[in-house]
Amino acid sequence: MSDLLYKTEFGKYYIGKCEENLKHLKLKQKVQLILTSPPFPLNNKKRYGNLVGEDYLKWFTSLAPLFSSLLTPNGSIVIEVGNAWERNRPVQSLLHLKSLMNFVENKDAGLRLCQEFVCYNPSRLPSPAQWVTVQRIRVTDSFTHIWWMSNSDYPKADNRKALRPYSQSMKDLIRNGKYNAGKRPSEHNINEKSFLKDNGGSISHNVFELEMVDEKRELRPPHSMFSIANTRSTDFYTRTCSDRGIVPHPARMPLELASFFISFLTDAGDIVLDPFAGSNTTGFCAEKLKRKWISIEVDGDYGIQSLIRFEEPILKAQIRKGAVCK
Ligand SMILES: C[S@@+](CC[C@H](N)C(=O)[O-])C[C@H]1O[C@@H](n2cnc3c(N)ncnc32)[C@H](O)[C@@H]1O
Repeated sequence: MSDLLYKTEFGKYYIGKCEENLKHLKLKQKVQLILTSPPFPLNNKKRYGNLVGEDYLKWFTSLAPLFSSLLTPNGSIVIEVGNAWERNRPVQSLLHLKSLMNFVENKDAGLRLCQEFVCYNPSRLPSPAQWVTVQRIRVTDSFTHIWWMSNSDYPKADNRKALRPYSQSMKDLIRNGKYNAGKRPSEHNINEKSFLKDNGGSISHNVFELEMVDEKRELRPPHSMFSIANTRSTDFYTRTCSDRGIVPHPARMPLELASFFISFLTDAGDIVLDPFAGSNTTGFCAEKLKRKWISIEVDGDYGIQSLIRFEEPILKAQIRKGAVCK
């Protein structure tokens, strides 16, 4: 039995440990994309009681065969993890990297790393505070790692579904139809017509920059990313939490990431799973993009709080509450 908290037109949100829930949900070979940010392998325990050190490593690695068995033959797993630091030391932990390595190399899972992405967030608060703002001996930790894995070398993926807007110079080029053709120092031979076709945008990069650092520089997030124009503190969920005096989930995945990967790696109707759903960023983006979604979260309060996302007027989601909804 699984505890359904609520369902919408496209998805269902369950409460409980994902390891337990996934035994009952009958998802073997049905999931096109597992998109998640697991509890971070911090060396200090957080509210949601994550494991630490070697225990975390063992637990996280043991999830690889389970997650892999849920994928369709061309499905993907995308995992976001931040950096971790050694307790009371200005030394970075290797735990998150070991966890990702052991996960992808777990022999019972048959996974491979399709591509690594980096998510750079210039508005991250300076941390770890002791080393960055007090002693001033380290700099702000401002990016997360995103590993895209699959049990196939050719998972379903189409970068044309996640294009970036063209730069102004590229737009001018396409308009003027003139290009400086010839050999480049990199040895690439650029044909006269190479770059003159309008493909609707340019190919996305594997570094996401969430906010503008330099006003003079153009920020060109992929068209498929939600909310990039707004700062994270003004999105509907965060604003509504603040209006109601609710502390928002402390480790939310950026909406931009979720919307990018769902657009890039799935089609409407595919199933997207987030086994560590928290505020349900994944389910919300999947709903907007008309993908089926399943979210699982151990902490019921985060589940209740995630309902706020579906109150967003533009979404007009029909929520039906399940048996465990207070
Ligand atoms: C990094 S947060 C995910 C945040 C989420 N991506 C969002 O955008 O809000 C990790 C979440 O995993 C939950 N969690 C920890 N262990 C779990 C487990 N065994 N099964 C399900 N959820 C778990 C935590 O309560 C926490 O909300």
